[in-house]
Amino acid sequence: MQRVYFCGILPRMANTIHRPEWHLPESMITLEAVFQNRRRFLRQLGFTGAGLLASPLVGCSKAETTAANPASGAKPVLSSTATNFVAVTAKGYPAPRNPEFDPKWTLTDGSVAARYNNFYEFTTNKERVHRLVDRFITAPWPVEIGGLVEKPMTLDAVELAEMMGLEERVYRFRCVEAWAMIVPWTGFPLRKLVEKVSPKPEAKFVRFETFFRPDQAPNFRDQNYPWPYTEGLRLDEAMNPLTLVATGIYGKPLPKQHGAPIRIVVPWKYGYKSIKSIVKIEFVAKQPTTLWESLAPDEYPFESNVDPGKPHPRWSQATERLIDSGDRVKTLPFNGYGSYVAKLYSKG
Ligand code: MTE
Repeated sequence: MQRVYFCGILPRMANTIHRPEWHLPESMITLEAVFQNRRRFLRQLGFTGAGLLASPLVGCSKAETTAANPASGAKPVLSSTATNFVAVTAKGYPAPRNPEFDPKWTLTDGSVAARYNNFYEFTTNKERVHRLVDRFITAPWPVEIGGLVEKPMTLDAVELAEMMGLEERVYRFRCVEAWAMIVPWTGFPLRKLVEKVSPKPEAKFVRFETFFRPDQAPNFRDQNYPWPYTEGLRLDEAMNPLTLVATGIYGKPLPKQHGAPIRIVVPWKYGYKSIKSIVKIEFVAKQPTTLWESLAPDEYPFESNVDPGKPHPRWSQATERLIDSGDRVKTLPFNGYGSYVAKLYSKG
């Protein structure tokens, strides 16, 4: 059953999402009905561009259903446009690998990972993101850390990385769309930053916000989502030793398409929780609204832990496709990180 209500075409009104005229009761929704109504609604708004009509949400898109490798055929060769590795020059790369996160898994081919990205501010087409990031300016990059904390701070992403110290960790990464990769991130535990700013006792959640610059990323104008992209974690999730603030990948500063210059990586949750290109980290008392949750709460709830036993409303989450080899492998509960995080969710 199709359960998408908002598919990114609604006017933005003070962060309030209103159901569109075409909203149907769930019992009447079929894929075709949603598609046709969405077309009608877009036509009424005067949007007729094929790209817009075809554009998916993370959740409006089909899940991965075949083992086809998008990067099959000739292996891509890194070029300066495609990699965008040069946005930031910071000390500390490559960082020493933390032996606790040095599994003997085969890493995903970095050039494949750099050409298969979800970054909706640019496009909903994963294979085009790396070609659309040229106008995106990622330095200087002030990051504001505040809200319910004793010691708020605003500092540049490079300064922040230098202040916190960097390490490398190999993590599995699982997208809700059922593709996966194994990559070496460079960064520091979010926990260290939380301790530095000293949250007040009322702080129970951390809210993250991405940049909003319509002149630098085309989809802000083309896709009517409740921008900017926002995400959130419970404070205890933010404090878990696995939660990483990433500033690099494959031994170099993050290329733009991977979320330069600073992002979060939460490896036991679906990939959309790992918000990219963060400008603001805010400590709050109430569970924050996230972009995906506001678009489709039944499909992208706040918690979103990887769970092979709980299908997405429109596809199975039992397996995942590795983006470079095309191999389909079993998905693990908490993406294999249960020993670190299962206790956060055990009742009683
Ligand atoms: N962060 C922002 N700001 N915008 C996005 O569209 N997409 C998310 C997440 N973070 C996204 C984002 C999703 S759905 C995934 S799967 C991962 O980024 C993809 O990260 P990658 O492109 O580095 O593999």
